[in-house]
Amino acid sequence: MTKAEAKERIEKLKKLIDKYRYQYHVLNKLEISEEALDSLKHELKKMEDEFPDLVTADSPTQRVAGKPLEKFKKIRHQTKMMSLEDVFSEEEFSEWLARVKKLAPRDLPVRQAGKFEFYAEPKFDGLALSIVYEDGILDYAATRGDGEVGEDVTQNVRTIESVPLSIGAKGRVEARGEAIITKKNFELINREQKKKSAQAYANTRNLAAGSLRQLDPNITASRRLDFFAYDLSGVEFKNHSEEHKALRDLGFKTGGDLEGICKKSEEVFEHYKKIAERREKLPYNIDGIVVSVDSNDLFKKLGVVGKAPRGAIAFKFAPKETTTKVEDIIIQVGRTGALTPVAILKPVEIGGVTVSRATLHNEDEIKRLGVKIGDSVIVGRAGDVIPDIRKVLKELRTGHEREFHMPKHCPVCKKPVEKKEGEVQVKCVNKLCPARHREGLYHFVSRKAFNIDGLGPKILDAFLDNGLTQDASDIFELKEGDIAPLERFGEKSAENLVEAIKNAKKIVLARFIYALGILHVGEETAIDLAEHFGNLDKLAEASKENLESIPNVGGVMAESVYGWFRDERNKNFLKKLLKYVEIENPKKKKPGKLAGKTFVFTGEMESMSRDEAKAKVRALGGDPSETVSKNTDYVVTGENPGSKYARAQKLGVKIIDEKEFLKMIK
Ligand code: IVH
Repeated sequence: MTKAEAKERIEKLKKLIDKYRYQYHVLNKLEISEEALDSLKHELKKMEDEFPDLVTADSPTQRVAGKPLEKFKKIRHQTKMMSLEDVFSEEEFSEWLARVKKLAPRDLPVRQAGKFEFYAEPKFDGLALSIVYEDGILDYAATRGDGEVGEDVTQNVRTIESVPLSIGAKGRVEARGEAIITKKNFELINREQKKKSAQAYANTRNLAAGSLRQLDPNITASRRLDFFAYDLSGVEFKNHSEEHKALRDLGFKTGGDLEGICKKSEEVFEHYKKIAERREKLPYNIDGIVVSVDSNDLFKKLGVVGKAPRGAIAFKFAPKETTTKVEDIIIQVGRTGALTPVAILKPVEIGGVTVSRATLHNEDEIKRLGVKIGDSVIVGRAGDVIPDIRKVLKELRTGHEREFHMPKHCPVCKKPVEKKEGEVQVKCVNKLCPARHREGLYHFVSRKAFNIDGLGPKILDAFLDNGLTQDASDIFELKEGDIAPLERFGEKSAENLVEAIKNAKKIVLARFIYALGILHVGEETAIDLAEHFGNLDKLAEASKENLESIPNVGGVMAESVYGWFRDERNKNFLKKLLKYVEIENPKKKKPGKLAGKTFVFTGEMESMSRDEAKAKVRALGGDPSETVSKNTDYVVTGENPGSKYARAQKLGVKIIDEKEFLKMIK
């Protein structure tokens, strides 16, 4: 990026961050997540680091945190209370470490021994406190304030049960740490606030801060704050780890089994992952880990840059939402011929996974978002899994963004595409389109179809590209000798794959029908068809009327199934395929307690997954379905129900919650 471009971007980032700052801190509402806002601040900080002369006094990075309020007595800290630089990935952590190694004085013993050990501990999400003891007696406690001058909150801190009022130490000793509030107390207090029609606290950090800055210590006491110590001064220690031990010996609470020495970066990464996994279950909020060089001597010699010591870093957890750039929009052709626009993103970590593409679904979605190629966007992962674009940050546009239009021709087979009246999806209708064929093959071996272990898209691509498979049935003809010469294969892995293919030859009827990839026949319909007809021949011969008489099978579906079994190419394929596979037909079903009842699920249930719920319905003779119609008997709603809920209301279908559903299946 040129300096002029950087300048433009920095200016826009500053404006945008300021807009959201105002929304959040003044108006008490935020259009985007705090994480997305952090991501913008992080980008700004990085750009300012690269071009330091572009830093201005009004930049959000120059904001001095928490100017002391007038109502509290001011206290000047004996040594400044600093803050930490953030990193969000192993890569950024390694950059920090490289800097530490470069700047470590050559004559330092740890440097000479090449032994850089670290102390890793949780980064508590609360409010920093300095607590000073004189000859063992708590003298005063102060908030961080602007780092130099804080507020005297002694009376309030005295109400925190985990803060010792006296310790076994002579002279002046200062403990620093974080005052926090547990998630449980946060819920309780917000419930009380609601009852009083008072404003709810946005998060545990705000509540901890609000509780400490109360003029009435009784209020602070009622909030039941907690305190974790992470720093001790007034006594000299060789290592940060010894300091932590001394804190515990003096009666302070520290990070417990969430902290410890890490001998190298790999151990830091392991520690980080372990803590990230435990994060949700902890009684209080943490937002990462703090990693310091364990040697206090090295820590001191490394010095300070800006407001932060060089010898420690906040290694923050990957956010669930972040910002990035749309580098391109490409088209994917699916098994059914649907053309799906996909955003190619500048790779970012979201919730610990690197995300580099996000589906844009269709042209309507692109219009709704207003996304263009080159845009800065907020991305998250829907249901914590599938990446999706949540918002376009139009304020950051440069004017070089490019509008995207759906192509008039299939990008793979070049045949004209079609869009039916009333449909949102543009389709390639060429049955011989290689892209559709390829996707059909992926579908054939997928988990809910033939479920062939170790056979995924990459390997299927290799088969196709090497001319090993014309259609899906060829998979069953493959020999070790065909596979072993392919890239990334060896004899052993080829042998394993051939074995897995052999094991997949036996398949239940419903899965077989699903694997065929008949348009409009999903997993549920495949099960319905299998149960209704009992074997493949009957299904293949079924008339349209016969098909349509099955509950949940509509006209379009019946047409599609009927047509599929009468297509010459399909007939040949089936004939070939049946030479290899052995279909297990369903047993006659005993009528169960839910016989004849259809269920549609929407939203997340607490006690089971949707697949489990459907299996339960099926086991009791009922019929799970994906679409709500007037023939649906029950719509079962969980957390965050989708559009099916509204549709059920509109059609007057009976809506029940998880509890009622559980009663029915008991
Ligand atoms: S060490 C040099 N350790 O994170 C500052 N800080 O931006 C010494 N924090 O203001 C900080 N948990 O309030 C340290 N285990 C921990 C921490 C921690 C939370 C907070 C602290 C500080 C901020 C750093």
